[in-house]
Amino acid sequence: MKILSIETSCDETAVSIIEAKEKKESPSFSILGNALFSQIDIHKEYGGVYPMLAKREHGKNLPHLLTRALAEASMFNKTDAQYSENIWKDVKEILSREEGLYESLREIFNNIDKPDIDVIGVTSGPGLAPALWVGISCAVALGKIWNIPVVPINHMEGHIVSVLMESMDDKPIEFPALALLISGGHTELVEVKDWGQYKILGETLDDAVGEAYDKTARMLCLPYPGGPEISKLAEETFSPEYHRLAKFPRPMIHSNNLNFSFSGLKTSVLYHIRDKYGNRELLHEEKVDIAKEFEDSVVDVLLSKTRKALDQTTAKTLIVAGGVIANKRIRSEIVNLEREYPGLIIKIPTNKMSTDNALMIACATYFNVLLHPDLMHGSVKITADGNLKLK
Ligand code: KG4
Ligand code: ZN
Repeated sequence: MKILSIETSCDETAVSIIEAKEKKESPSFSILGNALFSQIDIHKEYGGVYPMLAKREHGKNLPHLLTRALAEASMFNKTDAQYSENIWKDVKEILSREEGLYESLREIFNNIDKPDIDVIGVTSGPGLAPALWVGISCAVALGKIWNIPVVPINHMEGHIVSVLMESMDDKPIEFPALALLISGGHTELVEVKDWGQYKILGETLDDAVGEAYDKTARMLCLPYPGGPEISKLAEETFSPEYHRLAKFPRPMIHSNNLNFSFSGLKTSVLYHIRDKYGNRELLHEEKVDIAKEFEDSVVDVLLSKTRKALDQTTAKTLIVAGGVIANKRIRSEIVNLEREYPGLIIKIPTNKMSTDNALMIACATYFNVLLHPDLMHGSVKITADGNLKLK
């Protein structure tokens, strides 16, 4: 089955084409085309992702990325034939809210053969609603032009299955599994009974862990995204005469449930800076001190909650995914859990596969279609849901 996928939930615009084979127990995926544009440099100026700007950029990028991915997959072939005016009339209607997208798609695709694709998968949530809508409208428009079904995909399911596309080792996944999802928008512990069967066991009550990294970085006058900046500082070694001053809480570490809370941690950083340093600029070592203590707190909380979840479930596999797992310290602490839980299979995607991408959405599309073959027939109405939950 050949799948085209589109991801526009946040600040990455991405299009992939994969070929998926075999049953859900032993799927195999080959990448035929893959194109991604990160808007990070555009949002950097604002210190975070600006939804309406993200939407505009997605609309501008999608036609080029589609062309690139299709060309890479040898599916961008010119023809003398053209699609009918009736089809373009519907496409214009579908894209009525996406400025300029109808014109670009018509110009690019009117003389391009229908590609050899069976289904289109598109992220429908969670994420920034205006950004999600561009991807959805574009996917539905392509489905109309090529007469191909379009399937809505939960972005978090994409993160979970990302380990099947590319992970740090090729051990097979055994169920039940536990997934720890840590990104800029989410922090969740999810029980995965099987592909397509999810139950949220715990989640953040306020800020996501990546968000806490980004906000703390801003307080230290570091650029967006702050995660990599803080983790770089936290890896530094102190000069021997410097003593660590910062002491931050480990929010909800002793609570009985599997929920998280990171907004208090961020506030502690704010108070620490205000009380210790007032308005003056922080010295490098003072920033390192804060970064180390902040990361220690994050690691303590994530590990403690993950242990609690492993103890409560019969998970045979631990999947950890989302942008924050790019953090080397968190990655190595998670891998060390193998010693405490002999036999536990730990699956972590490669760095490239941890951050938002369309390959993981294509992979999730395959499972959705295998589990619900009716998705290949008839059309489902797809709407953006910024708060879409896994279930
Ligand atoms: O999954 P992702 O690419 O996008 C969302 O869906 O949110 O995650 C982005 C988040 C950002 O908050 C970023 O600061 C964080 O992942 N991040 C990191 C590191 N690299 C990226 N956080 C901590 N350490 C890192 N090395
Ligand atoms: Zn994500």
